[in-house]
Amino acid sequence: MNYTETGVLEANQIKIKNHLTDLGIDNIRKEIITGLTSKHKHISSKFFYDDLGSKLFEDITKLPEYYPTRTEKSILNKIAPILMNDLEKTDLVELGSGDCSKIKILLNSIQKENLKTINYIPVDVSLSAINDSAQELTDLFPDLSINGIVADFINQLDLIPAERKRMFFFLGSTIGNFTEDISANFLKNLSDNMNSGDTFILGADLVKSSTVLHEAYNDAQGITADFNKNILNVINNLIESDFNISDFEHKAFFNEEKSRIEMHLIAKEDLQIKSPYHHDDIYIKKGENIHTENSYKFSMKRIKELEEITGLKINQIYTDNNNWFALILFEK
Ligand code: AVJ
Repeated sequence: MNYTETGVLEANQIKIKNHLTDLGIDNIRKEIITGLTSKHKHISSKFFYDDLGSKLFEDITKLPEYYPTRTEKSILNKIAPILMNDLEKTDLVELGSGDCSKIKILLNSIQKENLKTINYIPVDVSLSAINDSAQELTDLFPDLSINGIVADFINQLDLIPAERKRMFFFLGSTIGNFTEDISANFLKNLSDNMNSGDTFILGADLVKSSTVLHEAYNDAQGITADFNKNILNVINNLIESDFNISDFEHKAFFNEEKSRIEMHLIAKEDLQIKSPYHHDDIYIKKGENIHTENSYKFSMKRIKELEEITGLKINQIYTDNNNWFALILFEK
C-alpha cells in the first residue's frame, strides 16, 4: 500500500482521502483561551482525544462501571442479523468511526456473496484511526471495499458519496457530547443530505438510575479522573501553558434537570496559569470549576422528538434488557 501525490492511500480495495487540510491552530488557541477566561471556565470535550486520551477512553470502555460501550455492542450483536440480512449494493457510512470494532459486528452478519457489493465509508478526523481500521477490515473481509474520508463530519457531510443507497451510523452516544441546539442542527443537516430510501442508525445513551450513571463516570480505579485531567496536558501542548494536573480534582455528576452527566476539573489552590498566547495570566480560584464535558442522556420522549427535528421517520428503537442504551433506526 502506498500514498499517491495527492495524499490518497491506495490498495486494491482501500481508498482514503484527506479533506482536513488546515485545522486552523490559531482558531483553536483562540477557542481555548476564550473558554479559560470566561466567567464559567470551560474546555471543549473534543480536546480529550490525543494519543493518551484515546488510550484512556479505550480503558474506560473496559471498566466494569462503564456500561455504554458493552451495552451498545450487545444490542448490535442482537440486531446485526436483522439489519444486514440480504443487504447488498449499499454504502455503510460511519460518522466518527474511530476503531472499527462496531462495524465489524455488522459486517460479520453480511452474507459472504453480498460483501463484495458493500462499500464501507468511515468518516473521522483521525487519519491514523482510518488507516488502522481499513487495514484490519481488509484482513478480515478481503471482499469489502473501503473508502475512508478524513473530514470533520459536522461541516463536511457533502463530501460523502451519494450515488448509491446509504446506511449512516453515528454510534457510541457521541451525540451526547453536543448541546441540544448543536445536535438538532447536525441531525437536520444529515437528514437534508440523505436521499429517500437511505437509513440512519443513531446510538444514544438513555436516562437511568443516577447511581448507575454516577459510577460510570466515577470509576473506582480513577481512570475517568485520569482521562478528565489529561485534557490539561492536551491544552498545555496547544497553548504552551503550564497547567499542573495535580492541582485539580475530577468531578462528575448527573445534572438531572438538564439530563446530562457533567464533568469538571476543580482547582485545589489559587492558580495563575501562563500562556504566550494570552497577554495576561489566567487566574483560577481555589474551588473554581473548569467544565470539560457534557454527556446527555436521552429519554424516550426526547428520542421521539428527533422525528420532528430531523424530518426522518423512526422505524425501530432497539434497546437492551435494562433499557440502558438505544440504537434508533431512522429512514428517509
Ligand atoms: C465518548 C462521549 C460517549 O460521554 O460517555 C467517557 C466520553 N467521558 N467517560 C461519554 C466519556 C467520560 C463518552 N463518549
